[in-house]
Amino acid sequence: MDVKNIANANTYIPLILASVIGMSGFVSTAAIAKDYFTVKDGELQRPTGYREWVYVGTPVTPNDMNNGKAAFPEHHNVYIDPESWAVWKDKGEFRDGTIIIKELVSVGSKAAVSGNGYFQGDYIGLEATIKSKSLNPNEPGNWSYYSFSTPDHTALTETARAFPAAACNACHQAAAADDFVFTQYYPVLRAGKAKGEAATGGHSSSLK
Ligand code: HEC
Repeated sequence: MDVKNIANANTYIPLILASVIGMSGFVSTAAIAKDYFTVKDGELQRPTGYREWVYVGTPVTPNDMNNGKAAFPEHHNVYIDPESWAVWKDKGEFRDGTIIIKELVSVGSKAAVSGNGYFQGDYIGLEATIKSKSLNPNEPGNWSYYSFSTPDHTALTETARAFPAAACNACHQAAAADDFVFTQYYPVLRAGKAKGEAATGGHSSSLK
């Protein structure tokens, strides 16, 4: 069967453990990694709930600085799933099972009472990357890349098929600071790498 429903498969494990041990209260589900995505028949199902994951930063490639048409318009709000964030802040690496979401938001206005700038407008797209040895054994770094954006950027697809490696991975491999991920543009990941509790903010007077 060509179905890999990781999220569902993993939720059964704690249930089985709990019933074997008789709900004694000694069962720790924390040790059992949970994945935040489902791939079915080779298609990534559109992830849900990511605006409640850990927000890591917002690169912006405005159309008006990219010949009127940025490759990924325009603000990119980037989120990592909470379990992968926990591993990043402790070990400084992306675990097998990481999903990172990049939600595209247009430039809505270029002036506010605070000054001129690029202010976020409407949601206009959704991209994702996942790291999975079992799903992507042959992709560099085991990462694969997806887009749920429709070509006209007015809606989202339900599912997405991975891009061929050359379309996305090659640039990520060549230019990203950490394991194909552009951590150099995400202050939360940069400052929090292997910092433990200090990664959560507010623990130090240093801005580094
Ligand atoms: C020419 C280089 C280049 C190509 C090709 C490219 N990307 Fe990226 N990607 C970037 C850069 C730079 C960032 C971080 C800054 C930004 O968002 O503008 C990024 C960030 C991302 C992120 C956020 C997580 C991360 O790894 O930093 C996702 C998801 C993503 N890209 C998806 C894609 C998809 C899907 C494709 C293929 C259709 C693709 N990228 C092709 C350069 C590239």
